Amino acid sequence: MARGLPRLFGVVGAGQMGAGIAQVAATCGLQVVLVDAAAAQLDRATAGMRASLRKLAAKGRLPGGAEPEAVMARLTPATQLEALEAADYIVEAVPEREELKAELFRKLESLTQPHAVLASNTSSISITRLAAATARPDRVVGLHFMNPVPLMGLIELVRGMQTSDETFEATQALAAHLGKVTCVSQDRPGFIVNRILMPMVNEAFYTLMEGVGTPHDIDTGMRLGTNVPMGPLTLADFIGLDTCLAIMRVLHQNLGDDKYRPCPLLIQYVDAGWLGKKSGRGVYSYS
Ligand code: CAA
Repeated sequence: MARGLPRLFGVVGAGQMGAGIAQVAATCGLQVVLVDAAAAQLDRATAGMRASLRKLAAKGRLPGGAEPEAVMARLTPATQLEALEAADYIVEAVPEREELKAELFRKLESLTQPHAVLASNTSSISITRLAAATARPDRVVGLHFMNPVPLMGLIELVRGMQTSDETFEATQALAAHLGKVTCVSQDRPGFIVNRILMPMVNEAFYTLMEGVGTPHDIDTGMRLGTNVPMGPLTLADFIGLDTCLAIMRVLHQNLGDDKYRPCPLLIQYVDAGWLGKKSGRGVYSYS
């Protein structure tokens, strides 16, 4: 990719973040390949994208009056990474495990064109370390979307130690094309958003564990008391309790301070398989 927009945009991982990223990119006119090894996950993702696009179209919220089916026609689902051979900008949105992401980047660099950018949607893992796992660290960057991607206005950009100016400028241009405002974070654990958000979510679990309030009271207190759209426990269920715990562990391990210690109640919910909205049960029940 030169300094312009990607001719072919790749997304790896068709969970809620990957599907949302692919949807926004296709909505904004990019040709998109969405890869997930699980065909059933790809089916779920494309069905969700279609439903989301129809809803947004009905509300007149698709940029430039884009047509849902025209957007879907720009998307190619695939189960093999080889489908990304011609991609010049690839963002990974696989689960929040450093070794998984590093291994994926190593595979991608052997498959893709040498100039292709490898971006990570990680919410907390070091971009510098992920870059160092590849032979093209100058082409690695953090491109952190917020959930739900089609509705949220921000992308957090993270520059690793080795990220080149060219990669960073191409990433800024891409974010602007996707209609998102950016904030730029140094490559520190949790970056800006999760460094501040997750300790609040974690504290909500301590507040619940200590019986300070019911889930309803904690959420109502924070939602109306601080004028945010969701209380912290509802938000945690929405993000996924496993993701919240993974981010707290990154903060705790890398920043050291005990104030980042994951709440035992949050750990227990995850141990129970109560992961939030996506599993049908978290702090609240969604059946
Ligand atoms: N596509 C299309 N429509 C969607 C959608 C999607 N992906 N997701 C939700 N909607 C729709 C709902 O179906 C609902 O539609 P109806 O009204 O027709 O039923 C509508 O959006 C929700 O409308 P609301 O009136 O409840 O709320 P809203 O439109 O004002 O805002 C929201 C919805 C943007 C999700 C809002 O509740 C919000 O901002 N919540 C907080 C989200 C947040 O903080 N996200 C960041 C999480 S942190 C993160 O992502 C970083 C990380 O690394 C963990």
